Amino acid sequence: MAQSMEDFMSGKGLNMKAGTKSDQDAFIRRQEAVFSQAAEHFSSDEFISEALRKRLERLVDSGLGERGLKSGFRILDVGAGCGALTDVFLAKNPSADITAVDLSENMLKVLSSRYPSVKIVREDILKFSSPVDFDSVWFNACFGNLFDPAQVLRHISAQMTYGAKLHISHPMGRAFQKGLHRKYPDVVPHLLPANEEEAVKLVKGTGLVVEQMVDEKQLYLLSFRLA
Ligand SMILES: C[S@@+](CC[C@H](N)C(=O)[O-])C[C@H]1O[C@@H](n2cnc3c(N)ncnc32)[C@H](O)[C@@H]1O
Repeated sequence: MAQSMEDFMSGKGLNMKAGTKSDQDAFIRRQEAVFSQAAEHFSSDEFISEALRKRLERLVDSGLGERGLKSGFRILDVGAGCGALTDVFLAKNPSADITAVDLSENMLKVLSSRYPSVKIVREDILKFSSPVDFDSVWFNACFGNLFDPAQVLRHISAQMTYGAKLHISHPMGRAFQKGLHRKYPDVVPHLLPANEEEAVKLVKGTGLVVEQMVDEKQLYLLSFRLA
């Protein structure tokens, strides 16, 4: 039987101590365990409603902009999970060059069975290092789950091509994400930047500049360009 959202987000049944912010390894292990339990929920047919799918498409369209998904574009899908966003990229371009990084084996099992052409890397994004640089980087519904978001941005911006874009997105919006943060601070320790000032502070020293911020009730997109 599919586990409830409540159970996996609270880590119920994990039989492990909650990771604290002062213990990065424990935090990552907890994150991995929580999402490995959640794979069933994220891969269920009901998870992506028509409305949610439309918002995911809008995020991708707004993020890619007029350039669209050019062939040869290298996409990095961070915390890709079961591939909610991956699916949108492949619908646009079935031969898109996508690398999906995630901590959770169970989430990635689903992703690789659904999208065999995607390169899969099971790793903490902070340890991920690519032989090629990326043109388009996405953190969909996972940015607030990172241990140290600014550190991750410094690490990933060093693996982007000049002019590449990096997107932080949430298809349920900032208020929803804030609700998760309040309810499950061990799993979602950070909020999404609420304004341009916070966004600029977050990317200090990375070469990333803010390009757009869409902050609607059920849609959040913060895009940066590597200048
Ligand atoms: C809420 S799910 C979102 C999945 C997917 N992006 C989506 O939109 O459905 C968050 C995902 O981020 C992954 N994750 C969390 N911290 C991570 C990290 N440090 N490195 C890689 N993946 C991470 C989790 O394993 C989980 O699959």
